[in-house]
Amino acid sequence: MDKELLTASLLLADDDEGLTPRFYEILFERYPAVRPMFSADVRPQAAMLRTAVVAVLDHLDDPAWLTQTLGTLGAKHAGYGATPAMYDAVAECMVAAMAERAGAQWTPAMSAAWSEALGAVSGLMLAGYPAQERSA
Ligand code: HEM
Repeated sequence: MDKELLTASLLLADDDEGLTPRFYEILFERYPAVRPMFSADVRPQAAMLRTAVVAVLDHLDDPAWLTQTLGTLGAKHAGYGATPAMYDAVAECMVAAMAERAGAQWTPAMSAAWSEALGAVSGLMLAGYPAQERSA
């Protein structure tokens, strides 16, 4: 995974911390069915998501941390009712929010790097699900 490209592109997209709130707007526009899963005020949630993404970037060289932390986070998400298909929706909307906010400076290589990284995060989170829910 290209940590430098991920870090540099996150800075382009997230210079004033407006990225994750915009992500939720896009998610709820494109996938209104997931809206009721979240609290009315997603701002605290947006801040937690941002912290989680930054923590993952800080630990890209630490597979034990990634497996443990994301597996635990995934187990909580099984309890929230997040299905495997919803992870694709989340990754798609996150990349869309980043590209929109970075504007002309965003490149296809950045989209590809984030799709790959979010796919890996999703895989590690789903590995924390009870086995029967992984393919739901
Ligand atoms: C890249 C994948 C994802 C990451 C990094 C992520 C991260 C987080 C974090 C850090 C929290 C804070 C609470 C906690 O520790 O459990 C959270 C909560 C939550 N996540 Fe995710 N998440 C991801 C994917 C998803 C997906 C696919 C869904 C399904 C639509 C989802 C739905 C939720 C819900 C419903 C909550 C609780 C919200 C609330 O209490 O209002 N997440 N997530």
